[in-house]
Amino acid sequence: MITEDKIRAEVTNLFDNIEFTAEPAGLYDPLRYMIQIGGKRLRPTLCLTTWALYKDEFTPQILGPASALEVFHSFTLIHDDIMDRSPMRRGVDTVWKKWDADTAILSGDVMCIDSYARMALAPSDKVQQAMSLFSRTAAEVCEGQQYDMEFESMETVPMDQYIKMIGLKTGVLIACAAKMGALVAGASEEDCQNLYDYGYNLGLAFQVADDWLDAFGDAKVFGKPIGGDIVNSKKSWLTVRSCEKADEQTRKMLNGAMALKVTTEEEKKEKIARVMDIYRKLGTGEDAKKTIEELTAKALDCAARSVDGEGYRMLENFACKLVGRTK
Ligand code: IPE
Ligand code: IPE
Ligand code: MG
Ligand code: MG
Ligand code: MG
Repeated sequence: MITEDKIRAEVTNLFDNIEFTAEPAGLYDPLRYMIQIGGKRLRPTLCLTTWALYKDEFTPQILGPASALEVFHSFTLIHDDIMDRSPMRRGVDTVWKKWDADTAILSGDVMCIDSYARMALAPSDKVQQAMSLFSRTAAEVCEGQQYDMEFESMETVPMDQYIKMIGLKTGVLIACAAKMGALVAGASEEDCQNLYDYGYNLGLAFQVADDWLDAFGDAKVFGKPIGGDIVNSKKSWLTVRSCEKADEQTRKMLNGAMALKVTTEEEKKEKIARVMDIYRKLGTGEDAKKTIEELTAKALDCAARSVDGEGYRMLENFACKLVGRTK
């Protein structure tokens, strides 16, 4: 069976040698930059892991789709960072910050197109299914991002709507990655669905962890400034859960603090401190940890319907790394 070490080496090799069109450099340099600055490359890793459940070696047939997932993901981050006004990603300047927003829009567009060209390298008997899954997923990510923006100006967001939103913006692409490896390898529809469900629940856990890290993480390790969601009045699992738990007075305090428009460093610090104080008093951080564990367990139950032995152990390892992540 293909080992985890081999998967890791294949992913490294894939992105060390990835090529984008040379010119105009103003359009394609941001693509190279996004890929070179790295990131965890979870989605191609997951895709190659589910491929490894069915195949004993890597062939070019899966490498196109695996790289497509990462290129598409990186494209969504370029646009997301404009939308979220985020200055830093993967420990360095975001594309709009390093270049400008116009460049980030157009380079993001061409990166999205590039990801489709890579997905089209799936084997001819699977390419239609692969493209259809990929396109549906891509549209769903946009739907999730739209809800995410709309939630910014809503005072309260019910938890079920929040979960639906993160399922779309984050869950479906991880689900797509998990299914893609199996689909291209020729797995049964039932296996593909179980792996999709594994990825979806893992994706939900992953986004709750991202929300937790945005408040409680270590900026140097996380690669993004801590408190960015609070500063930009973004709804997170923590704000949604806090609203559920808080009494009338605390909820008013939280909504008041979250609505503050801040510009100076001093104001940002003050806003973060006020919101964090409420999270701490309510114990919302601990609730998030519990939810992450529950969603991960649910993901593994889905995987167990189709996978056992060494394969299951790989999916379990992958899930544990996501849950225990610090970046
Ligand atoms: C960041 O994704 C966006 C979310 C879905 C939370 P990752 O945490 O996978 O980002 P990189 O690719 O490792 O930088
Ligand atoms: C990202 O969610 C989801 C997508 C990019 C589709 P976030 O906005 O929370 O991701 P980060 O925190 O900027 O990485
Ligand atoms: Mg966002
Ligand atoms: Mg963001
Ligand atoms: Mg985030």
